[in-house]
Amino acid sequence: MASNSPGYAITVRVELSPESSSTAGLAQAVINSGASLTALDVVESSHERMVVDVTCDTSDPDHAELVTAEIARVPGANVRKISDRTFLLHLGGKLEVKPKVPLRTRDDLSRAYTPGVARICMAIANEPKDARRLTIKRNTVAVVTDGSAVLGLGNIGPAAALPVMEGKAALFKQFAGVDAWPVCLDTQDVDEIVRTVQILAPQYGGINLEDISAPRCFEVEERLRDLLDIPVFHDDQHGTAIVVLAALTNALKLVKKKPEDLKIVMSGAGAAGTAIAQLLFEVGMKDITAFDSHGVVTKERKGDGHTSTWMIEHSNPRGITGTLADGLVGADVFIGVSAPNIVSEEAIASMAKDAIVFALANPDPEIHPALAAKYARVVATGRSDFPNQINNVLAFPGIFRGLLDAGNSKITNETLIAAANAIADCVDSKQLNESYIVPSVFHPDVAKNVAHAVEQVSRNNG
Ligand SMILES: NC(=O)c1ccc[n+]([C@@H]2O[C@H](COP(=O)([O-])OP(=O)(O)OC[C@H]3O[C@@H](n4cnc5c(N)ncnc54)[C@H](O)[C@@H]3O)[C@@H](O)[C@H]2O)c1
Repeated sequence: MASNSPGYAITVRVELSPESSSTAGLAQAVINSGASLTALDVVESSHERMVVDVTCDTSDPDHAELVTAEIARVPGANVRKISDRTFLLHLGGKLEVKPKVPLRTRDDLSRAYTPGVARICMAIANEPKDARRLTIKRNTVAVVTDGSAVLGLGNIGPAAALPVMEGKAALFKQFAGVDAWPVCLDTQDVDEIVRTVQILAPQYGGINLEDISAPRCFEVEERLRDLLDIPVFHDDQHGTAIVVLAALTNALKLVKKKPEDLKIVMSGAGAAGTAIAQLLFEVGMKDITAFDSHGVVTKERKGDGHTSTWMIEHSNPRGITGTLADGLVGADVFIGVSAPNIVSEEAIASMAKDAIVFALANPDPEIHPALAAKYARVVATGRSDFPNQINNVLAFPGIFRGLLDAGNSKITNETLIAAANAIADCVDSKQLNESYIVPSVFHPDVAKNVAHAVEQVSRNNG
């Protein structure tokens, strides 16, 4: 059930005769091949011929080829060029550095650079805390990855991870005015990652860890938090947990169930799964059972090397055994952060009345949302083409804005819960319904409200 997406948009440049039937034929060809036509732009026109750019969204690269072939079959049409609009967007990267001060005169140079800058350096040498006041540090975040768990693509390495880190940095700026910069490390050794980030840290006001695989990500974050005096936040863990808690908080208002009464079943006990379980547990949801690629997590897992100690000690209080489908019978909530298409319709049908299903595996969820919605009352995914998108961009820009403004490195469960409540509260009681449990990522107040809530908690923690 793949749907067309701007992520697979193409522009096909076509030369053809000027009869109106030829241009109509182009539109028909796009529609016939199942793509979504977004524009027909005339690039050149004369009595003899026209050149037209046909732009459309397709569902994947194979579909794009099929659409192009269909266009080429239009009588009199000659395909000149095909452009992948996503590749075009990424040409030369997505970020640049711009000076914030004028550099037009000798006077400007003398103050921004030598000799004037030397006095600023000495002020910081004498009072290191002033680095926050007199340099970029206060507003700058490193987006650090080792490329070991990039999106759903796996271990593709630091260079291939860069487009994602650039995108993340762009979102930081767009949504919260934070100057973030990718730091893609050519090592996957925990000691080397920790030491490298430690020696890079003086110029940054915060460290956002990204796409580092579990369980190494837990150790990297813990050690850096101990070592550094700036906030260290692994977004794949805590960003996800915050947005899931926000969504679940609002979903519970609809189904009128209490946190302490819920039976929660999870698929996935990795970076996202562990952090989600920890945060939900913290707000009183104690009956959480997790399944992963090795089956159900039980106390017998102790020392297996791939399950976090927290999960082993705190999950599965009823000692559930069997398969994920067995675990889902009578469950109130399913949260999937694992793999595509591993949950059947029947399993969702076996859940309790007014079930809540968050199927978050990307890009394809554990169960297609349309199938889950046949039985569940509230359904959410990580996708933008279905309602209730659980998107970390609701959390991380505001979190860092608040932490940077508070100038406090400490991130506690209270910080995470405050952020989740701020997101949940962006949907008011008149707006709340089964298809709107989280605000849109473009909601104008989200980052601001999250930042405010986080800053307040951070100042109290300080
Ligand atoms: N906002 C969002 O929508 C959001 C946020 C974070 C993660 N995710 C998605 O969640 C998934 C997991 O992310 P992560 O960072 O925790 O990865 P991870 O590699 O740390 O953990 C994956 C977990 O899924 C389990 N798993 C893998 N295949 C399985 C299968 N067939 N059946 C049951 N369990 C299986 C693994 O054992 C592991 O516990 C990814 O698809 C990711 O894109 C979505």
